[in-house]
Amino acid sequence: MRDPNIAKRTAAFAAADLVPDGATIGLGSGSTFAFVLERLAARMRDEGLDVRGAPTSSATAERARTLGIPLVSLDDVERLDLAIDGADEIDPNKQVIKGGGAAHTRERIVAAAADELVIIVGENKLVDVLGKAFRLPIEVLPFGWTHARRRIEATGCTTELRQRGGEPLLTDNGNWILDAAYPDGIPDPAALAATLDATVGIVDHGLFVDMVGRVVVADDEGRVRIQ
Ligand code: 5RP
Repeated sequence: MRDPNIAKRTAAFAAADLVPDGATIGLGSGSTFAFVLERLAARMRDEGLDVRGAPTSSATAERARTLGIPLVSLDDVERLDLAIDGADEIDPNKQVIKGGGAAHTRERIVAAAADELVIIVGENKLVDVLGKAFRLPIEVLPFGWTHARRRIEATGCTTELRQRGGEPLLTDNGNWILDAAYPDGIPDPAALAATLDATVGIVDHGLFVDMVGRVVVADDEGRVRIQ
C-alpha cells in the first residue's frame, strides 16, 4: 500500500530546501508542516544550515524544540525572510482556507510578518471553489459567542462549535472555533473575508486572501511542482 504521507513529505521537503542559510522563518502548523521541521533539522545536521523560526502554535514550538531548531519570538524580530505553512484548501488564484488545526490566527500574524508565505500541499488540497468540501474555521471569543455566531450565520452559513472531549476546543489564544459550512462554497473569498473582518466577536477567520507567494504541490507519486 502506498504511503499516504508521500505527498505531504515531498512538498514539505521541497519547501524546506528553499530556506536560505541564515534565514529567520515562520514555522507553520499541521501534519504537512511537521515534515518541514524534520527536513530543517536534517539540513542543520548535514549542511550546518543556520536557521531560526517563529512558531505559529505551541505544538510546532514543542516539536521544533525537540528537534533542536532554534526558536525566536515574533516580537524579537522585525521581519521574517519566509513563512512556510500548510493549507486545508487552495483555489486557482492562490486563495486559501486554513485553520483545520485551529492555529490560523497566529498563522496569519506570522505570515503577515514574512516577506513571502510559501504554502505546501498535496494535490488533494487543490479545489476550484473554496469551502465546498471544507468548512471555514472562525476563531471567536468565548464571551458573547452566540451573538458572534448569529452574525456569522447571517453571511449564509451554518456553524458548529468545534469540540474536543465534549468541551469546546480551546485555541492557543484561549478562544473557541466555529466551523462554518457555506452550502455553495465561497465563490468570492475577498468579499467574505472583508465582511468577517468587520464582524464583532470574531478574532480571526481562516480565509487567507492575496497572502500567498509560492505554492509547493506534490502528488502521491512523489512528484513536486512549485507554482
Ligand atoms: C492549522 C492549519 C494547517 O496548516 C492546515 O489545517 C493543514 O493541516 P495538515 O497539513 O495537517 O493537513 O491551517 O491551523
